[in-house]
Amino acid sequence: MRDIKVSASIMCGNPLKFGWELEKLEKSGADLIHFDVMDGHYVENIAMGIYMLEQMKKKTSIPFDVHLAMFNPEKYIEKFCDILDENDYLHIHPESTIHIHRVLRDIKKMGVKAGVALNPATNEDALEYLIEDIDIVLAMTVSPGFAGQKFIKQTLGKIKAIRERANEVNPDLLIAVDGNINKNTIPDCIKAGADVLVAGTSSIFKGEDADYKALMNEMRSCAD
Ligand code: DX5
Ligand code: ZN
Repeated sequence: MRDIKVSASIMCGNPLKFGWELEKLEKSGADLIHFDVMDGHYVENIAMGIYMLEQMKKKTSIPFDVHLAMFNPEKYIEKFCDILDENDYLHIHPESTIHIHRVLRDIKKMGVKAGVALNPATNEDALEYLIEDIDIVLAMTVSPGFAGQKFIKQTLGKIKAIRERANEVNPDLLIAVDGNINKNTIPDCIKAGADVLVAGTSSIFKGEDADYKALMNEMRSCAD
């Protein structure tokens, strides 16, 4: 059985209390912090930036899972990789840059784990010449940009196909699922081959009194 990790989507936390959120997530056993960077062009939303990541990285020892939902990430990967380390992941979308193979290679050269983020309608073929050289695939189960959306079940077939291909050429590849991940959708995602669950408003960010530890353990137990 694969080791299932929970990646808490910090953009779904209280933006006025991110420090408190990180402390609570650390105490609650979050495996990763999902950090959404959105440029308002690649997705119709503007989320957290480089300075925020720098401050958060200083605040917690939990590794980061940084999702660059932005055009031309190649302009910024050096800045991101200066902040991140070998325990962190940096995801880019194939549609967001011209030379994705080079960008991923550069991320790895700078000592950060490289990921490819696939929109719901992006075919797994986009990975064909990349899958052997990356550490993780971020399989979006909603269109990126906003929390609180509905799970797109057609993505399950894609996740299964990616896992099967990875078993042939890159068995250690992680597959993260991101969007409306909760006790109703986790079992199918795990069965399809996912092993990192992005936790947002559908699962743990349920207000100040939410018991993140219990809710994340519930997510992991859905995977059993
Ligand atoms: C979507 C974001 C995620 C996630 C939020 O672009 O990357 O943070 O959807 O979680 P949910 O879908 O549970 O609100
Ligand atoms: Zn995300």
